[in-house]
Amino acid sequence: MEAKYPSESACIMTDLVLPGETNPLNNMFGGELLARMDRAASIAARRHSRRVAVTASVNHVAFNRAIPLGSVVTVEAKVSRTFRTSMEIFIDVWIEDRESGIRTKANEAIYTFVAVDETGIPVAIPQIKPETDLEKERYAAALRRKQLSLVLAGKMKPNDATELKALFSN
Ligand SMILES: CC(C)(COP(=O)(O)OP(=O)(O)OC[C@H]1O[C@@H](n2cnc3c(N)ncnc32)[C@H](O)[C@@H]1OP(=O)(O)O)[C@@H](O)C(=O)NCCC(=O)NCCS
Repeated sequence: MEAKYPSESACIMTDLVLPGETNPLNNMFGGELLARMDRAASIAARRHSRRVAVTASVNHVAFNRAIPLGSVVTVEAKVSRTFRTSMEIFIDVWIEDRESGIRTKANEAIYTFVAVDETGIPVAIPQIKPETDLEKERYAAALRRKQLSLVLAGKMKPNDATELKALFSN
């Protein structure tokens, strides 16, 4: 399988925050943003793998800024690293100022998707070739995030998490 660039998987979704999607403070409900990020990440995973891709884990979500009712929200998802059957997807969330149009980063998240066949069995996917400095940075740190996710899920022994251990011994 030929390796692909992260840009080939990019999925950009822009939508408004409507009244039914807010909390009592009139800011976007966290679960609504999680769902939008999951949808964008799922499309990015499918574009990279050209397979059915399922959410295996949500590794990191930072709700740094509240997103007010009526905001224009853009969710950008891109594969940041691939392993044998799994992909890390990095998601950046932006809001747009109504008058100036200037975009501000509101939140970010990292999801793991696994490509599966029609019976749900994980299948191998193309590898990825990061191009930009940011893509290279995210690629380099992805292995320790995968190990952390597996350790927390009870699927890897902490002693086997070599990248994580290296982080703490430096
Ligand atoms: C995700 C799923 C396919 C993994 O199946 P599995 O039997 O654990 O398969 P494996 O152990 O072979 O793991 C497959 C890959 O997923 C990775 N993986 C599994 N759990 C993970 C986790 N919690 N964090 C990060 N990676 C994980 C494995 O490391 C492996 O990666 P690699 O092949 O790239 O090295 C399976 O658990 C599943 O179908 N889950 C339900 C998915 C779903 O329905 N999501 C929507 C939620 S409602």
